[in-house]
Amino acid sequence: MNHSYLTSTSYTATAPSNIALVKYWGKKDAATQWPANDSISMTLSESRTTTTARRIEGLVDWFTFGGVTISSETHRDHKIFRHLNRMREALGVSGSLSVESQNTFPTGCGIASSASGFAALTLASAAALTDEFTWERLAIRGATQEKLAHLARLGSGSAGRSVFGGFVTWSAGENPESQRISQSFSPDHWNLSDVIIVFSDQEKHVSSSEAHIAAWGSPLFPPRLSGIPERMRVTKQAIEKRDLAALGREMEADALEMHAVAMTGSPSVNYFRQDTVDYISWIRSERAAGLLPAWFTIDAGPNVHMICDSRDLNHVVARAKARWPQSHIIVDHVGRGPTIEKTENGTDAKGVKHV
Ligand code: PMV
Repeated sequence: MNHSYLTSTSYTATAPSNIALVKYWGKKDAATQWPANDSISMTLSESRTTTTARRIEGLVDWFTFGGVTISSETHRDHKIFRHLNRMREALGVSGSLSVESQNTFPTGCGIASSASGFAALTLASAAALTDEFTWERLAIRGATQEKLAHLARLGSGSAGRSVFGGFVTWSAGENPESQRISQSFSPDHWNLSDVIIVFSDQEKHVSSSEAHIAAWGSPLFPPRLSGIPERMRVTKQAIEKRDLAALGREMEADALEMHAVAMTGSPSVNYFRQDTVDYISWIRSERAAGLLPAWFTIDAGPNVHMICDSRDLNHVVARAKARWPQSHIIVDHVGRGPTIEKTENGTDAKGVKHV
């Protein structure tokens, strides 16, 4: 790489993905990332992005992901570099960054890699640009956790919810400025697991940005939006009471509704594969037979998430493996949210040397 470091200090943020229980689908305004509806998600613990940022000399930013390095000189309009510009402007600081990022899970196929990716990028770049890495010190520099969540959602809407742990609400508000992102229930409130069956790790054929626009062409979109306040109320109540059947009913209805809007949108977007459809029939019949205490949700991709009580996890995984032996299965849980660490002179706070 063609740059010299300005400092021996680097900052590493690790941010989790999140799975929406009531989905954000459609925007009222793309520039301000104003969502068409409120949403609530569960932050995960294992599916994470780890991003390291370090200040460098010059006017060019660098970004490395999956063994490929690009620079803002050749990729000026890349979403990563646009986000770094947004971060500098929001924090009122200048300076170029070298950023390296990696995921613990497949990218762009409905496991919300953009959520963990933009959350980690926001936090690592905020720390490197301000030289602060605790929530308290970042807040003193004007970067409260909620402000960082709003910056993250400007990169990718769902990323805002990954800045908090537990169960997180993103409210649309009356105008773009009155949006709120906050933790509704702590990770200790309810020990839920997410068994993700990866039917395909191919990148999705239609990005969520395109599908958010296509939603407005669906005749099912207005009725979906008018039902959201009641769905949010019932979902929050189900989480509060730790009532999995009640949560499952709303969550499944919401996922099917989101995909129905996508499929009837303009243009029509179908994220399902044959496996996805077979899976829906399978989980319903297993549940009806009293064999599987798990409920599904599906993001913008063919892969499915089975939400269950962590006490039933082994049983749920075993049944999923027996039915889908060829598929990659990821086991995840409700998580505590992101972390930020400082590494000095190649040695982290614990004295471990990094090479
Ligand atoms: O953050 P985006 O623009 O990739 O949209 C995410 C949309 C869903 O993941 C399908 C739902 C959600 O609320 O996370």
